[in-house]
This record gives sequence, structure tokens and C-alpha cells, in this order.
Amino acid sequence: MKSISVEQDGLKSVLDQVAEVAGYFWQNRWEERNGGNISVNVTEFVPVHIENLDQYIFRNHAIEYRELAGFSFFITGTGKRMRDMARQPEGNGCIIRISEKLDGYHVIWGAAGDPHIRPTSEFPSHLAIHHFLLSHKPGHKVILHTHPTHMVALTHIIEHHQTEKLNRILWSMHPEMKVFIPEGVAVVPYRLPGSEAIARATVEYLKHHRVVLWEKHGILATGDDILDTFDVIDMANKAAEIYLTCKNAGFEPAGLSAAQLDELDEMSRQWHSDAG
Ligand code: 13P
Ligand code: ZN
Repeated sequence: MKSISVEQDGLKSVLDQVAEVAGYFWQNRWEERNGGNISVNVTEFVPVHIENLDQYIFRNHAIEYRELAGFSFFITGTGKRMRDMARQPEGNGCIIRISEKLDGYHVIWGAAGDPHIRPTSEFPSHLAIHHFLLSHKPGHKVILHTHPTHMVALTHIIEHHQTEKLNRILWSMHPEMKVFIPEGVAVVPYRLPGSEAIARATVEYLKHHRVVLWEKHGILATGDDILDTFDVIDMANKAAEIYLTCKNAGFEPAGLSAAQLDELDEMSRQWHSDAG
């Protein structure tokens, strides 16, 4: 199988950061077995012409996202473990290029020793979201999906239609939440993992959020930087952990006051306008 070199700076740095974040997912005990998946739009780092590539045809039907033709993505393999990804991205993920006809993809790197490695079962969501990001948030090239224990636990207690209540709790647990995730998180009602239905629903909720919870399943976030995207998930899960720790200790957490949250709102506006 033909393959591109990843020694050039852009791709090497993407793979190093993917491995770093995969390690954090595992160390945080968020990933049981093959839980979680990662994709990064790496089109800008991939040569335009690569000869003689094997093509894999989509099992069901060609995708409808015309704009994604020729785009390249690093994507984790289905069934692969994050703890293995942390040590060896090659063999646990691959870089693929969507075919011009949209009927399949070429593997242009990775899948060492396993030519039939298949992208994550959440590929429908990753493709739909990358397509959405191209037109709505072009700077966002990263999609992280993981199963943070405390966040998932919260979705068993607070249902998707109570998003406002959920955000009030999260914001009031820790000052950083309001500053770095001022729009809060959205809860996508439960849908079958890996389905077109969860893909479609997620895109809807991402119109106003960068962090969404998949009810009773996990979390998904987008961003322009792999480590920064991990940080927002980590921050949200920390707030959930503080809440549940107080509840486990047998008392209702006091939470930040309305005045304290207003003050943080102001700080957040300042911070986001300074950050550009
Ligand atoms: P994959 O191994 O197919 O990526 O599945 C993991 C997962 O978290 C599905 O939601
Ligand atoms: Zn999952």
C-alpha cells in the first residue's frame, strides 16, 4: 500500500497531539475498551497528487457532502483502544482522503499491518460535522469524542430538555466554566451510536455550541487545536465531578452566586474579545 510521509512538521505535530490526548483520555479512565474517537481535518498538510492509492468503497451509499471531495482526515480506527493510540497512532488510526466521486476513501497513511483498518463507527458523525464546520466554523479542524464518567452520569440525572438547569449547575461549580464555555453545553437526546440519526442531531446542536453531550453515552467537542479541545472537555467534566462529589458527600453544593456568575460573564466577554 502507498503511503505519505508524516515527517513534515504539520502532520507530525497532529499525530503527536492525537497520541497525547488519547493518553489523557485513557489516564482519566474515560475510555473503556475502544471507547472514544478522534478526527482532524489535515487536508492542508497532505500533497495534492498521490499515485496508485487503494480505494475503499462506502458500504451503504456515497456520501452527500460534495464539498468534502478530496479532503483528508486523520481518523481513529473502529475497535481500537485509546491506550494503544497513545503509544502508536500508526496501526490504530489512519489518514484517509475522500474520493472525488464521494463513493469511498483512499487510505494514505497508517493502518500499519492492517490494510483493512476501518474508520471509527462514528464516521457518519465525523463526516457530517466536518462538513458543517467547513462552512460554519472553518477554523475548527478537530473533533474529539470521549466517555467522561461524570458527564455521562449527569445525563442520567438531568434529561436533555433540562439543558438550562444543567448549565446553571455546571457554571456554578467552578469559575472557569463560565469563562471558557460561556454558551454552555448542549444535550443531544439519545440516539443509536454510529447512526446517521446521531450525526444529524449533533450537527443541529453544534450550531450554537462547541461542546455537546450525547445523552447516556459521552461528549463531543470541536475546536481549532487538539489540546485546547481536550481542555474544554476536561473542564466540563471537572464541574460535573465537583457537583457529584458534593452530592455523594450528602449535601447540595452551594454553587457560585448569581452576582459572581455575572462578574464572570463580564470577564468571559473580555477574554473572548481579547483572544480575537
Ligand atoms: P469506535 O471504536 O468505533 O470508534 O467506537 C467507540 C465509540 O465511542 C462509539 O461511540
Ligand atoms: Zn462513544
